[in-house]
Amino acid sequence: MKIIKVRDYEAMSKKAAVIVSSQINMKNDCVLGLATGDTPLGMYKELIKMYKEEIIDFKEVTTFNLDEYYGISGENEQSYKYYMDKNFFNHINIKPENTHIPNGMAEDIEEEARRYDSLIQGMGDIDLQILGIGRNGHIGFNEPDVKFEACTHLVDLDDETIEANSRFFDDIEDVPKKAISMGIKNIMHADKIILIASGIEKADVIKETIEGSISPNVPASVLQLHPNTIFILDEAAASKLN
Ligand code: F6R
Repeated sequence: MKIIKVRDYEAMSKKAAVIVSSQINMKNDCVLGLATGDTPLGMYKELIKMYKEEIIDFKEVTTFNLDEYYGISGENEQSYKYYMDKNFFNHINIKPENTHIPNGMAEDIEEEARRYDSLIQGMGDIDLQILGIGRNGHIGFNEPDVKFEACTHLVDLDDETIEANSRFFDDIEDVPKKAISMGIKNIMHADKIILIASGIEKADVIKETIEGSISPNVPASVLQLHPNTIFILDEAAASKLN
């Protein structure tokens, strides 16, 4: 595991975008695993800039998002599908059919989870997975007490996650209580992983993830077992590390 400490959010975003762009330039038909939330927004902006400057080309790239809310359609402004189109896909030349997000409206959610897993496996797994981290240590929506062996599945969101996500909704009651998420097994099968974190509110969980014991109570701690993970942390997020 490699740790890169940078000054601030902007530097973290640029560093992550440079690594993603190298991946695309080394393998133009690569498979990227993508995250939503606040943390990757700056990285997406940088990647859009690099695309406009013709430094990278997304024509052959395939993406798989980590997760989607359960019971919310892609047209809903709160959905992760909407987020990805608005903040990234609409601004680059990726083929829509090459972008994958779990369908939170699927009638048979277990079947949808199996479909998603087999799509990922059919592409030969993920070349580079981008992760954010929840204050409770979740990656994707793999909440504490996670089963490390799980693939894509329906999850009950923690109260802490629901509260954290309520900033995107008018009312906390509107925040979905469930999501469909890639499992730890999908994530651990990625060839390379970048976890990005910024801000003092992530400092405790970053310390537990990197220096604590590997435990389902801190899902991200499993990354200690991954042979090719880079943490890109700004000063505040890294401030409690030894
Ligand atoms: C979202 C995801 C989540 C977020 C995490 C941090 O696709 O996978 O694990 O990365 O909740 O969210 P932010 O970046 O908003 O702090």
